[in-house]
Amino acid sequence: MHNKTVLTGVKPTGTPHIGNLVGAIKPAIDLGNEVVKAGGRHFMFVADYHAINAEKNPAVLNQKLKEIACVYLAFGLDASKSVFYRQSDIPEICEITTILFAYTPKGFMNKAHAYKAAVDKNRAAGKPDDDLINMGLYTYPTLMAADILAYDSDIVPVGKDQVQHVEIARDIAGMINAHYGKELLKLPEYFLTPNAVLLPGTDGRKMSKSYNNVIPIFADKAEIKKAIFSIKTDSRPMEEPKNPEEILVYQIYKGIATPDKTEEMAEGLKEGKLGYGHIKNMLLDAVLETTLNAKEKYDYYMAHFDEVEEMLSNGAQKARPLAQKTLERLKNAVFGR
Ligand code: ADP
Ligand code: TRP
Repeated sequence: MHNKTVLTGVKPTGTPHIGNLVGAIKPAIDLGNEVVKAGGRHFMFVADYHAINAEKNPAVLNQKLKEIACVYLAFGLDASKSVFYRQSDIPEICEITTILFAYTPKGFMNKAHAYKAAVDKNRAAGKPDDDLINMGLYTYPTLMAADILAYDSDIVPVGKDQVQHVEIARDIAGMINAHYGKELLKLPEYFLTPNAVLLPGTDGRKMSKSYNNVIPIFADKAEIKKAIFSIKTDSRPMEEPKNPEEILVYQIYKGIATPDKTEEMAEGLKEGKLGYGHIKNMLLDAVLETTLNAKEKYDYYMAHFDEVEEMLSNGAQKARPLAQKTLERLKNAVFGR
């Protein structure tokens, strides 16, 4: 990571849950801090242009942007070290996107994962393929390519579902460079967080806001407790030795608890010394422990969002000149200036 530029984009969609936290938020913050420590640069932005494809209510959009920005700050994103900004504060991104469009084969978009998933959903519901699909969603990967290429990013940490989008960015950059016979754009690489945990939800499926099976990060204790105590269990008595891996509460616990504590729960289950009530309380403690410190910070930033606005605008001031440079390089090449 030494001297590398690492860029992370996050869509402001919905109140984050424990799955987002361990699978995406924490790993991204840790990596960002590591990169900065190693002398590299870290860009972290809220992808609000991407969000408007799906969210048309400005009040909701604003609330989600606030929540996601405050979550990242609460869990240790350091806005004085990482360049933290909102996508829509960098208008050059849209100009870069327009230029990239001229080099984006339509076939790439037809095959892009976000668009295909939307078509599949329509088909499953018996609707026409393109029902409610707007051009923003269809061309999503080109805007994402502009996000990445604008800052000469070397590395883009992503979940599996975004790998293809980074590859599209790389392909578009490669085609432009080949056409002009020089390295106008830096070819980015994706980075899959090693051992990223996929947390199951309270019903055993992947924890996801779309399944309504989440353990929220910052709800009050009663609400978190309610979610945890709704986790499916069976009717075996406590004394019966159990295989921890078959127990949903344990599967969630091991995603967030320390190795020592995880081992303690595993042993207790194997030896028939811990009942379902016990382990649910242990999970509740682990969730509260993980989130308690952060919750204070989160509440503070939500109540003083003007401070966050200032951070975002400082971030944009740092990011914009770089995007301007990339845009100028591109314009000079494509218009022969
Ligand atoms: P959701 O499934 O709740 O809609 P998103 O698709 O918005 O969540 O995911 C946001 C980020 O959180 C992605 O990087 C994704 O990989 C990660 N993530 C989502 N659900 C989980 C989970 N259950 N376990 C681990 N990571 C997750
Ligand atoms: N598409 C990403 C997601 O859905 C968000 C995103 C937008 C992004 N632009 C990006 C991620 C650039 C990395 C780099 O999660």
